[in-house]
Amino acid sequence: MLRSHTCGQLRAAHIGQTVRLSGWVNRVRNHGGLAFVDLRDRYGLTQVVLDPQAAPAAFAGGSDLAAEWVVAVEGLVRARPEGQTNVDMATGEVEVLVQSLTVLNPSQVPPFEVAREINVDDSQRLRYRYLDLRRTRMRRNLLLRHQITAFVRAFLNDEDFVEVETPILMKATPEGARDFLVPSRVHPGKFYALPQSPQQLKQLLMVAGLDRYYQIARCFRDEDLRADRELEFTQVDMELSFVEAPDIMALNERLFLDLVKSVTPELRIRQEPFPHISFHEAMERYGSDKPDMRFGLELTDLAPALAATAFRVFASTLADGGRVKAVAAPQTFTRREIDELEALMKELGAAGLAWLTREAGGESRGSVAKALTAEEQGAIFELTGAQPGHTVFIVAGHAALVAKCLGRLRQDLARRLNLIPEGELCFAWLVEPPLFEWNEDQGRWNSVHHPFTAPDPRDLALLDSDPGQVRAMAYDVICNGYELGGGSIRIHDRAIQQRVFALLGLSAEQTESQFGHLLRAFDFGAPPHGGIAWGLDRTVAILAGESNIREVIAFPKSLSAVDLLTGAPSSVPIEDVHILGLRLAASDPPDASAALPATG
Ligand code: AMO
Repeated sequence: MLRSHTCGQLRAAHIGQTVRLSGWVNRVRNHGGLAFVDLRDRYGLTQVVLDPQAAPAAFAGGSDLAAEWVVAVEGLVRARPEGQTNVDMATGEVEVLVQSLTVLNPSQVPPFEVAREINVDDSQRLRYRYLDLRRTRMRRNLLLRHQITAFVRAFLNDEDFVEVETPILMKATPEGARDFLVPSRVHPGKFYALPQSPQQLKQLLMVAGLDRYYQIARCFRDEDLRADRELEFTQVDMELSFVEAPDIMALNERLFLDLVKSVTPELRIRQEPFPHISFHEAMERYGSDKPDMRFGLELTDLAPALAATAFRVFASTLADGGRVKAVAAPQTFTRREIDELEALMKELGAAGLAWLTREAGGESRGSVAKALTAEEQGAIFELTGAQPGHTVFIVAGHAALVAKCLGRLRQDLARRLNLIPEGELCFAWLVEPPLFEWNEDQGRWNSVHHPFTAPDPRDLALLDSDPGQVRAMAYDVICNGYELGGGSIRIHDRAIQQRVFALLGLSAEQTESQFGHLLRAFDFGAPPHGGIAWGLDRTVAILAGESNIREVIAFPKSLSAVDLLTGAPSSVPIEDVHILGLRLAASDPPDASAALPATG
């Protein structure tokens, strides 16, 4: 062994022992003729002292030590001198007086400092990720991620779940994003797809009688990246047979609560049991299907105040079936702040942002103070609960636009007004979403969740008459403005599944070629089943207090979908492309692969 203890282990009880430590040089300080080196490993830091009197060879050998060198030392554990105890360090009572020192590997000057929590350019961090991962914050995040997966596995094993691995090379599963395709060498012109999720396979495992399945599953979606989205991410994926939605929700709620209480007990859970909020209510009150409910600033419908308004913008919006809604903030704003907020609303597609500040004595000022009558303004203040000194922001437009704009505005205002409590988790279940949403561009219905989600049996008759009104047997778990997970009771009946595919615009042939395997399985005794998957990356990020999931993924892609560490994606020799039966449109001379079979 190159060490007898780790760098986080030594305490006063070890004083007098000879120990061997190995690790990285965190920092070197020369002081009063002695060299003090903080030695670091995954477990912590230990101060070691090089003394020219006590061990001249070790002192000389350590004369050029610098940050990130890897060394082994042997020495005597002693108490730190009076007044030099470091209470911020777990090993702060002791130091090791070095008797011998071995340099195991020197280091170049690193491109950024590992020892201090300083801001470093993100691309440098990703390019030298192994150095970034040496830093305390990243190490803490990876360890937390490990604790979370270990906890989840233990919890689900205890509940009789079976962990099953499903393939990475498979057939396309529609989850609403674009697939990553892998060309087959053996079958030129044909492609595997990387799974967007193991959705169909976990359903087939229920048909197989597994009863309770889970997997910490890698998923791949070729979509635009954001702070909470990666090309490849991890789901805690599960499926259960002979259950109803409340059973799945209760089990997962217990899992989340036990998890937080066990791995991050310092975080407060706002409400237990988790409140339920319908999709419709969430959109009305918060303008979002994943509202951050740690603060109020709810949306108010102003239609009752504006029924007879002569102000054309609001009157015509209401006459056209649009909405005029507001968010009231308990303060006044400068012209500049209002301009910023209006610019944000316009970026999202709003025509503008109207505002009214209520003043003392029945007065008001603002962009629509002249356009609205005193009665209308009074009614607006009444509906929104705005007091003197408060400001009401108003957006008019079609329902989805107003929701998007005001949903975003309330988030922005909450940040500006400092209304978001630290260290608090506000979980909720979002229930009764619609089964379909209308896709304007393609003139057909889309699944809100995915096509395997069961319609609410109370709405079955509407499948033919009014598909947009059909509620789904689906539920999302949301927390602090993020969608952490989503699931549903599935269709297990061939006829209903075929009706849903038909509503999504699939012909009988397309249904057979894409989903024949699933429909056939439903002919062989499929049990009623349902499940859920939650985003592990988002869950770890929220529990770690990180706002970007890349902070809890060891080797993430950059926001421009590049792996800066290895350089993927990269070019490959053209022969490797040809052997797959492919030709590159841009750089491949057309005749180079003229003899190759056509691609699909
Ligand atoms: P869904 O598509 O809602 O459901 O995904 C479940 C959860 O996965 C996380 N997630 C992501 N995390 C990071 N990057 C992404 N690109 C990304 N996309 C999704 C989210 C989300 O809530 N098969 C269904 C689940 C089921 O019905 O059981 C599914 O995949 O936290």
